[in-house]
Amino acid sequence: MGVLRKRIALLSGDGIGPEVCREAVKVLEAVSERFGHQFIFDAQLMGACAIDATGNPLPEETLEACFDADAILLGAIGDPKYDNNPAASVRPEQGLLRLRKSLGLFANIRPVTAYETLLELSPLKNAHIAGTDVIFFRELTGGIYFGEKGRNADSAYDNCTYSRHEISRIAHLAFQSAGNRRRKLTLVDKANVLETSRLWREVVQEIALHYPDVTVDYLFVDNAAMQLILNPKQFDVILTENMFGDILSDEASVIAGSLGLLPSASIGESAALFEPIHGSYPQAKGKNIANPIATILSAAMMLEHFGLHREAELVKEAVDFALEKKILTLDLRPSTLAYSTDQVGTFIAYYVLERSETLPHKSNIEAGLSTII
Ligand code: IPM
Ligand code: MN
Repeated sequence: MGVLRKRIALLSGDGIGPEVCREAVKVLEAVSERFGHQFIFDAQLMGACAIDATGNPLPEETLEACFDADAILLGAIGDPKYDNNPAASVRPEQGLLRLRKSLGLFANIRPVTAYETLLELSPLKNAHIAGTDVIFFRELTGGIYFGEKGRNADSAYDNCTYSRHEISRIAHLAFQSAGNRRRKLTLVDKANVLETSRLWREVVQEIALHYPDVTVDYLFVDNAAMQLILNPKQFDVILTENMFGDILSDEASVIAGSLGLLPSASIGESAALFEPIHGSYPQAKGKNIANPIATILSAAMMLEHFGLHREAELVKEAVDFALEKKILTLDLRPSTLAYSTDQVGTFIAYYVLERSETLPHKSNIEAGLSTII
């Protein structure tokens, strides 16, 4: 792959979003410096910060910038002042949901790996989780998130609807992924109760005929929630609808060791967005303690999407090296030994730039070690 020029809409969002995005940008700049690519960042408002500035969680200008971009990098959105006010008519999340829908980002891809170097930190039995390598394909623009909703004084409803088309387009992506991995796909649903789940099963059974080398399993979501903790190694690709995927992927983060480690890609026909799966973690805002790795790995998924495989591999290698050397934030290390958000980002960016096996001293990481850092 030659030298690329890419336009990236940067939606840092709320809470720790700006801090973790800053580190991912630092790493992307290290990639561009090392390989000669040009990444042009276009910073835009979305979420609570956009409501504060414009009254709209997804301003028109932001949406346009996203349409114009080759990819979108998102930090996190959300603010407790809305979470604790069920009567709020405008909410930060509406911005994200509208963005996903407007750009047609129907497939949310969330890989979960148990890092060898972090096993000892997991509350789960190490022998159960060692070697886990699961990838979620979560449907992202349908289901109960987007169905008709409403309320009266004493009742409320959220409809869940899925069409064959919505199911089959993500199912094909999930089967293709399984074909390139360990060739096992698990559909998670609630087909013993929900009509939509029965349609998912029907469509997936039909599509499975086109992928004879992929073994298909069907699990009810309650059982899947348990199996994920009991024996996560049984899973390869998990395909599921919007809400189940939201819940199960947070649960699966315990296997990786921290929610702060999990990246995601949201893919549509033409647009692509990359974001950590964690939220805006308002308690940590501005404290320089949040884990930037989920966002940095989301940037690696973006590089992969651009076809920059070598570059993506190098970023992942840099993250592995940081984990191995215990250059970790507070979620993964006790406070006396923890590194700050920007130290972790700087360390990873430095490795990307220099691929240096020598471990810079903590104070050197603080001082900054290269021209870009
Ligand atoms: C996620 C988040 C969002 C979701 C929220 C912020 C709307 O939890 O990306 O998983 O539920 O999809
Ligand atoms: Mn979620």
